[in-house]
Parts: sequence; structure tokens; C-alpha cells
Amino acid sequence: MTARIISGTEIAAAIRSELKLRVARLKEHGKVPYLGVILVGDDPASISYVKSKEKGAQEIGVHEVTIRLPADTPESRVIQSIDDLNNDAEVDGILVQTPLPGHIDTEKVLYHISPEKDVDGFHPVNLGKLLRGQPCFLPCTPHGIQQILVRSGYDPAGKHVVICGRSNLVGKPLAAILFQKKKGANATVTVVHTGTSHIPNFTRQADILVAAMGSPLFVKADMVKDGAVVIDVGVNRVEDKTREKGYRLVGDVDFEAVKEKAAAITPVPGGVGPMTVTMLLQNTVESAEIKAGIK
Ligand SMILES: NC(=O)c1ccc[n+]([C@@H]2O[C@H](COP(=O)([O-])OP(=O)(O)OC[C@H]3O[C@@H](n4cnc5c(N)ncnc54)[C@H](OP(=O)(O)O)[C@@H]3O)[C@@H](O)[C@H]2O)c1
Repeated sequence: MTARIISGTEIAAAIRSELKLRVARLKEHGKVPYLGVILVGDDPASISYVKSKEKGAQEIGVHEVTIRLPADTPESRVIQSIDDLNNDAEVDGILVQTPLPGHIDTEKVLYHISPEKDVDGFHPVNLGKLLRGQPCFLPCTPHGIQQILVRSGYDPAGKHVVICGRSNLVGKPLAAILFQKKKGANATVTVVHTGTSHIPNFTRQADILVAAMGSPLFVKADMVKDGAVVIDVGVNRVEDKTREKGYRLVGDVDFEAVKEKAAAITPVPGGVGPMTVTMLLQNTVESAEIKAGIK
């Protein structure tokens, strides 16, 4: 069997088309969704992520402003910028681009964001609500993975989902989303990590296998059940002298081998990646809708 390749790029574009309509409706109510982004320093990856957020916001009509601060900005100044955005009634969503420079306590800074504007979904109030099954902003990458599954016809309900990785960014919130007694969830979830003995024993049982480890090509074909759906979250640079940049991007899944065994698989790039920014924009639009009283 050769797997169906699930295009996150196409699913994300479809969601952005829906968001454009929601933004147009908000504008009829006199409201333009507003996303405030704080970027500290000049980390190239962070600059590129912020650019993709600016581009996505522009595409769907969200007003986006990036506050650029130098790398040596004191923590108190970063918190002041968050307070300014918290106190600005026009602002619907706030995002602080991570990683932050070493002298800044990231947790302290992120927890300063008002939970009502925490469109990244990482504030403990939102994570607590997520765990309790209450409405909240869902963290963007895990929410994007859920959308990939549901929108490509692989509803997780009743399935055994095995997640490789337990980070606060991906693995833990994804587990919390997928085991809820809710539409597009209701799965049985197993999470494996570096403390798990013999990971293949678990991955081979997965109807849906999610690899989110940051370990290049970790998931081999013999770790995957015939006909499984495989979601590759990993983004890893590996040396490739044939490329101009000297490297190429690979996921956590040995794509070429696993695609001969799986029923469906996401590629890297073009799988989970494009979903993350789109779900951030969705949270921003949703925040504006709540404020405008049309949600
Ligand atoms: N496409 C996107 O939008 C997007 C978004 C976020 C992340 N990513 C990518 O997804 C990957 C994971 O990101 P992350 O932030 O979740 O990474 P992370 O914070 O480094 O967490 C990695 C997790 O995987 C586990 N792990 C790592 N190597 C393992 C191994 N050999 N065996 C078993 N478990 C292992 C770790 O276990 P322990 O807890 O035991 O250490 C940890 O729980 C990265 O490649 C990242 O670039 C992509």
C-alpha cells in the first residue's frame, strides 16, 4: 500500500478561506481582529516565524503589529510591552515569540499575557481549562494536528492514538485535546517518551501515530501498523551537500519507508507546519468574535 499524502498546506489554505469570511463578518460589525506580536532579539528562525504570521494575518485581513525589541531588552521592559497590549481594548490576541534571550524568564513573561488574549493557548489558565474540557484557546500546533485528522476524514474518535513526545508545546496538549469526550476527539491516547521501555511495542498498536520528538527519521516502517495514519510533527535540519543551503528538512518519520505501510501520512515540509500559524489566526479571529459578541 502507498499512503495517501495529507497536505497540511491545502487544509491550512481552506481554513484561511473560512477565516477570511469570518473577518469580513467582523468588519461588518465594525471590528478588525488585532494581533500583537512581541519579538525580542534577532534569532533567524524567530524572525522567519514572525514573518509567516505577518503574511498570514495580511492574507485574511487581521491587523497585525510586531513590536521588535533588541536582544538585551530587560525582562521588565518586555513585561511592560505585554501590559500595554493587555490594556489596549483594541487588541484581541498577544503572542510572544519564543525562544526569548537567556536573561529573560520565559514562563514569567508568558504567564503575564491576559488569558483572554492568549491566542497561543499556553497560559496555565487556558491549559487548565483545556484539561477540564472547558472552552479555551487551544495551543496551535496540537489544534492543527486535530484539524488535519478531522478534515482529512480520520476522526480520532474510538481510535488508539500514540503520541511520541510529551513536550508542553505539542505532546501534552495534544493528548489533552484528543482524549476529551468531545467531537473530533474521544480517542484512547498513549504518550511515549525517553522513559518508555521499548517504544515500538506501543507505536505498533497505533491507529493514529503522531511523532513529535525532534529526532530525525526516528519512526521506521517496522514501528508502524499496516494502515495506520501517521502525523509527522518533527522539523529537523540534516546535512545535505547537494542543497544550496547545505541542509534539508526532515521529519521524525522515515517518510519514504513508512509511506509504503501507512494508509495516510503528512509530509515534512508541507504537513503540520502550515497549520500552526493558521490556528493562531483562528484563535485571534475567535477572540475578536467573542469581544464583538458574535460568538
Ligand atoms: N510543525 C510545527 O509547527 C512544529 C511546532 C512545534 C514543534 N515542531 C517540531 O516538533 C518536534 C518536537 O518539538 P517539541 O517542541 O515538542 O520538542 P521537545 O520540547 O524537545 O520535546 C521532545 C519530546 O520528545 C521526547 N523524545 C525526544 N527524543 C526521544 C527519543 N529518542 N525517544 C523517546 N522520546 C523522545 C522527549 O522526551 P522527554 O520528555 O523524556 O525528554 C520530549 O518529551 C521538533 O522537531 C520541533 O521542531 C514543529
